[in-house]
Amino acid sequence: MKKMKKKGTDAGPGRTAMDALEIKHARTRKTYEIPIFEAGVEGDTAIRGIDLRQIKADENEFGLMSYDPGFLNTASCKSAITFIDGDRGILRYRGYPIEQLAEDATFLEVAWLLRKGELPTQAEYKQWAHDITYHTYVHENIRKFLEGFRYDAHPMSMLCSGVAALSSFYPKAKNIFDPEQRNLAIIRLLAKVPTIAAFVYRHVRGLPFVYPDNDLPYTENFLSMVSRMSESKYEANPVFGRALEALFILHADHEQNCSTNAVRSVGSSHVDPFSALAAGIAALFGPLHGGANEQVLHMITEIGDRDNIPRFIEGVKSGKGQRLMGFGHRVYKSYDPRAKIVKRLAHEVFEQVGMDKDLDIALELERIALSDDYFISRKLYPNVDFYTGLLYRSMGFPPDFFTVLFAVARTAGWLAQWEEMLLDPDQKIARPRQIYVGPGEREYKSQLTNKAPTSRKGSARR
Ligand code: CMC
Repeated sequence: MKKMKKKGTDAGPGRTAMDALEIKHARTRKTYEIPIFEAGVEGDTAIRGIDLRQIKADENEFGLMSYDPGFLNTASCKSAITFIDGDRGILRYRGYPIEQLAEDATFLEVAWLLRKGELPTQAEYKQWAHDITYHTYVHENIRKFLEGFRYDAHPMSMLCSGVAALSSFYPKAKNIFDPEQRNLAIIRLLAKVPTIAAFVYRHVRGLPFVYPDNDLPYTENFLSMVSRMSESKYEANPVFGRALEALFILHADHEQNCSTNAVRSVGSSHVDPFSALAAGIAALFGPLHGGANEQVLHMITEIGDRDNIPRFIEGVKSGKGQRLMGFGHRVYKSYDPRAKIVKRLAHEVFEQVGMDKDLDIALELERIALSDDYFISRKLYPNVDFYTGLLYRSMGFPPDFFTVLFAVARTAGWLAQWEEMLLDPDQKIARPRQIYVGPGEREYKSQLTNKAPTSRKGSARR
């Protein structure tokens, strides 16, 4: 396969051909020219998978496909929302560095930015925050629905079901190409996901539900619904409040990860956004994705003591023990920029609540892993989940609630990505190809009875 410089190739509608690939089929000796188009502002280039289909050994063949389990090298969309440079540890939302947003922005400002592409003006922000604040209440039947769960239900299962159930309360949300309905559904989701999350927290703990307080800003209202007891007016610890705001910003979006891909994929069938987001929550629940923050804490508890770390690391390296949870990333091949910020936030919170012995184990785990060839050669660095668990626990959240906090924040990104997908004329229903490796046609003969098969039209040929 030879790369060829070619200007002015017709790459099809909306495509700027910069270059082309010349592919020679070894068996047929035929040569094909596949346009390369510039797909991204940061210099990303790609070919269209469908352009490979013309390559075939004979006319009856289906045509060449690319085989890429887990999408290691397949772009499923163009997106203007989040930029990641995994080698240089860069993360930007709509061009703004994550470090600056985490330091100074509010979560609702970031939610607007992700969706609209620009920072809100004062008037836009005021309206946005007002609209979201006034949709925080959920129908009483949602409360009753959540009460039906067992006391030991996992909070992520409850959140996923609660968000899916919202779909039945807002049937007009299925009119996804009506901008008014779409806007309303987006506002409802940003407003109600924290309420459902807080109700889940209270249910599992057997505490009475606390209704939203419309006088409080977004994150403080969430903390109030989670923690308020008998006080007439809830006041959040300012260090916790700011830490949670920063954590929500860090988790708000992360381009085409497993759960965002789930939201886009399910949303591509044109189902309503409540159902599409429930799919994202389900994907986030998994221990290789958002569920990792809970697993980090279980892992540290299991290690128990600094002295046990070398043995634990040996188990990880041998492949016989578990993975080092909170380490490694498909895209980041240097330090995850979010992990750096979370580590700093953890220190700020620990100054308030006192040092945690598990932080000590985490720091030592990190030190050993970063100097060990197994991790260095595989470019395994701490990811965002490595320190978030410790931070959330020090703020009083139980481990099974960590991924729920992630989901509350990621709602902003899922919605922005869902809307971008809907409005993208290139997008179609997600429907990957497969390479069939099962049996050829064969005749059905029941193994359940001795009855001879009735005669059939047509027969198995292979
Ligand atoms: N501990 C030990 N070895 C690891 C780890 C780890 N955490 N992660 C990857 N490896 C090894 C893996 O065994 C493989 O080794 P080898 O080449 O010898 O077979 C190599 O590194 C490449 O791993 P991979 O599984 O092919 O990499 P991937 O890109 O498919 O997986 C990952 C990425 C995040 C699923 C993986 O690193 C992992 O399982 N990490 C632990 C779970 C975790 O922390 N997940 C949170 C991710 S960040 C937040 C989020 O997405 O929600």
